[in-house]
Amino acid sequence: MASSGFSCNLTAAASACLPLRKPGTTPFKTKHVRRRRSSCKIRAGNAGAGDDDALVRRNIDRRDVLLALTGFAATTSNLGLAALAADDTVPAVCLTPPITNEVIKCVSADGFQCPGPFRPEDVVDFAALPPPNGPLRVRRPAHLVAADEEYVKKYEAGIRMMKDLDDTDDPRSFKRQAAIHEAYCNFHYKVTAAATAAAGAGSPATEIDFDVHFSSIFAPWHRMYIYFFERIIGELVGDSTFALPYWNWDAPDGMILPAIFNNESSPLYDAKRNREHVDAVIDLNLGPGKQNDLPVCSDDACLKATNLCNIYRQMAVDTAAQFHGDKFCAARVMSPGSLENAAHTAVHIWLGDPLATNKGEDMGVLGTAGRDPVFYSHHANVDRLWHLWTAALGNENFVGASAAQWLDTGFVFYDEKRRPVRIRIRDVLDAGRLGYAYEEKETLEWQDKRPTPAAGIERSGAKPSVPAAATSFPVALKNGEKKYVTVERPEKARAGGGSSKKAPEVLVVDVTIDPCEYAKFDVLVNVPKGQEARVGPQNSEFAGSFVNLPHGGGDGGGRGSMGSLKLAYRFALRELVEDLGCGRDQLLDVTLIPVAGEKVVVDDVRVELLE
Ligand code: C2O
Repeated sequence: MASSGFSCNLTAAASACLPLRKPGTTPFKTKHVRRRRSSCKIRAGNAGAGDDDALVRRNIDRRDVLLALTGFAATTSNLGLAALAADDTVPAVCLTPPITNEVIKCVSADGFQCPGPFRPEDVVDFAALPPPNGPLRVRRPAHLVAADEEYVKKYEAGIRMMKDLDDTDDPRSFKRQAAIHEAYCNFHYKVTAAATAAAGAGSPATEIDFDVHFSSIFAPWHRMYIYFFERIIGELVGDSTFALPYWNWDAPDGMILPAIFNNESSPLYDAKRNREHVDAVIDLNLGPGKQNDLPVCSDDACLKATNLCNIYRQMAVDTAAQFHGDKFCAARVMSPGSLENAAHTAVHIWLGDPLATNKGEDMGVLGTAGRDPVFYSHHANVDRLWHLWTAALGNENFVGASAAQWLDTGFVFYDEKRRPVRIRIRDVLDAGRLGYAYEEKETLEWQDKRPTPAAGIERSGAKPSVPAAATSFPVALKNGEKKYVTVERPEKARAGGGSSKKAPEVLVVDVTIDPCEYAKFDVLVNVPKGQEARVGPQNSEFAGSFVNLPHGGGDGGGRGSMGSLKLAYRFALRELVEDLGCGRDQLLDVTLIPVAGEKVVVDDVRVELLE
């Protein structure tokens, strides 16, 4: 497609595409599914067979969903998915938070240095500490701080000092700090058997892997992590106003690795990055291999415009459940939010190259991501987007009864004085209380980049009629083979000509993946077969992508028992349906376009209204 053929909605008023403040939601639900156990190391049994290019017509009756789930074990063997097949069954539990360092424990295998151990009598409660009284620490865009030599010198000195601290003795050392991410993100932490039993996992209760990704713990945990990291630098350089720079990849000028991280003689440099990407404009929709035959940009301006549409999509979601993700679940039915699944993961993959033969460079694998100094600036931007989602866009985090469980979830981190501090989600909802702020430009370029319907799509008007019985799930995705599914919309959404911000309509795709493998597929809605090449992230028909940032890497990484992972990913439909003018339609045609990953199984595709 021509480079400048993309047409984001440049004329729409910014306010027209922003989500409004909405009332509380009850995001946390419990489901019952099978649990699968095998080792992350197992590589046997690739997905291979499956419906070729099949049109699957789905009746979304809940009974069918349950049937599809119960039939899973038998069907997976037919698909040749040995690595993903179940060998035992336990009732699924979504742990009732609060999750704290009392219900999870880090296992130090192979010399991996766990955070702590924290002696309860030493742990200080963050809420009991005096509020910050000095000037705010102002986080600035990393591509702009390059001009401030004094600042860059200070930042470099701080990272160098962290790297020079004694790793065995000082939890503030760079290596120990990076290992915190590895511990919480790469299966070193386990939920204790006692906690899973208490949560109703039945008997015998077993330990399960804990991970701060894929759930609503993602945003607050990473906020806590970089908060202490930033304060450690401030302490070492003797400047309590020191603030991390943020990698402003949601602004056109920031869509490239900031220069301060790309100077070989700087401690901010990391040689373990995808060399082809260190000075190129990020493609937020690129999967290595680009096997999706969607239109490709041939110049940077096009790429940047398309990226903005991508960011718009992740930010214009109406509920906390969609933005943050859902509850941490023992049986692996988790739902990551758009803040995590979209641009955040794409940037990791962009810099990390998880398909490299060495199993990924630092940023591309969860076990090593924290070893790249740019990680902390990347996450400062993720943190900023969360801040903007509430502060600038007027959305609300979880509220109501189930929110209390989320709010009480907390972890212990070492602070800049090496004191173990317990900090809870309720302590980190307000950046001001944490003593920092973000420097912003006047405009957020993605705010008016609401995707628009693709040009030149021929719609025959031949809508599918009544969906046939559910027979086709689970289905293994195979690169190069698109899957076509027809789903039925809830009557409540159709009656009003579309869903509302109060009860937004979402397309739920249930997947089973290998958490150690990079996987990506794109999802299109109402694009006739054969016309997919006309549609990209700049178009309304592009619902989004599912991306898995691989576990593994690091010291003894990826050795959890989590042989497979079940996720329910929600794609926002409210604006999509509105823009395509199909608010009263009974059915939607969904196209799944595999981009990467050999072991992705789609268990179900359906439309739901979030309450
Ligand atoms: Cu814990 Cu960007 O990952």
